[in-house]
Formats: sequence, C-alpha cells, structure tokens
Amino acid sequence: MPDRITSKTMYASLAGYLEDLQESGVEGVPVAIPREPHPDTPKNVSHVKNLEELACQVQDCTKCGLSAERKRVVFGQGNPKARLVLVGEAPGAEEDRQGIPFVGDAGMVLTRLLKAMGLSREDVYICNVIKCRPPGNRNPHKDEIVACSGYLKQQLALINPQVLVALGTFAAQTLLATKEPISRMRGHFHPMPGHKNLAVMPTFHPAFLLRNQENREHFWEVWDDMTKVLAHLGLPIPDKQRR
Ligand code: URA
Repeated sequence: MPDRITSKTMYASLAGYLEDLQESGVEGVPVAIPREPHPDTPKNVSHVKNLEELACQVQDCTKCGLSAERKRVVFGQGNPKARLVLVGEAPGAEEDRQGIPFVGDAGMVLTRLLKAMGLSREDVYICNVIKCRPPGNRNPHKDEIVACSGYLKQQLALINPQVLVALGTFAAQTLLATKEPISRMRGHFHPMPGHKNLAVMPTFHPAFLLRNQENREHFWEVWDDMTKVLAHLGLPIPDKQRR
C-alpha cells in the first residue's frame, strides 16, 4: 500500500514538478481559471450561485425609492427549477405585508387558475417585474423598472424556464419591450428578448378578471392562453366546457 501523502511530500513533489517546468522553458502557470458567468447574467448584478443567494442580496436593495416605503421585499416563490414562470407587475398591500407574491385577492384567482390547469403554486415559479410595493399601488416609474430589471433577468437565468406567462399589460409590455396592447399580444407566444428558447405568453392580469367578473369571456380567453401553455410544455389539458 503506498504511504499516506503528507503535505510535506506533496509540496516537495509540486516544487520538483515546477522546477522541471521552469527548466523546460515554461515561465508561469495560471493561478485560477475564471468561471464564465451564464450568458444571460446581466452585467450590473454581481454573480450569485442560486436563487437563495440572489434573494438575500435583494432583501437589502436600496437601488430605488421604493425601498424606503416597503415592509417586505417580494422576491418570488415556487419551484427553483420550474419550467413555467408567471410574472406579474408589483406587490400589492398583502404581498408587501407577507413578502410573498400573489397572496391577495388577485393571488387567489391565480392559485385557482393554476389548480384548473392541474398545477400547484409549488410546481411553478411566481414573481413580479418589480420586487417592492409602489405606494398606493401606483404604476411603477421608469427608474424603478430600470433599477429592478437585473433581478428578474437573473432569476430567469437561474431558473431557466421554458415558458413565461406575463400577467397583464405592465408585465407583458415591460418584458417584451413594446407598447402593444395586451388584447393584441395575448393568445400567441412571443420570443423573450435576450433569452434563447424562452416563449412568453401574455395574458390578462388576475386583478383584471376580478374587476370584470361579469364578462365571462375574459376568463375563457385566459383559459385558452393557458391551454396553449400546457400544450407547449407537453402537459395534459384538462377538459373544461365553455358555458
Ligand atoms: N399583483 C401583481 O402584479 N403582483 C402581485 O404579487 C400581486 C398583485
């Protein structure tokens, strides 16, 4: 059996090896080989290994004025390896209180929709474009969108989903960098700018469905969009009869 290698013998053989290299004309060896970041990692966000590390980083974010008024950062929730990611606008009051996306009235609609699709919140990943609540639920400002955009980009790079559902006008227009109305975008997959193999399905926001409950057609339009998502993912499509 060979002798146990002690650090002394290891250093001696390494020194001998380096001397041999030097004698044969080698002038230096690289100290470390830098690891290439994921191609979708934005330049302005420091490199992190996983979603938990990124979430920790975002908890302390003060990149925009929303940090002064938030109770909690609402980073995201769900399966870190989800094939389907759903992205809304920004946290509301209940999300700000709990630190979890889509837990208010609109969240209940979203959870019911997922259930109808044969999925649970744990199967997918749910987050928002903006991670902190805009006061009074006003629309996010341009500087807030810019400040927060790197976080969503990095979340998507870490999760690497196949399909992204953009919930509502704000999410769809921000993610697809367009001013196209949601009524024209929904129902079709769009390529996600800057991402390879990520299909975006814009659909109506659950809060819009709640505000327009008398119009059942909007529910069916969202259902049609979701059946396309299920088909794209190769998942079974539950049979629902239009009434
Ligand atoms: N609306 C959103 O867009 N996101 C939430 O988390 C809740 C409501």
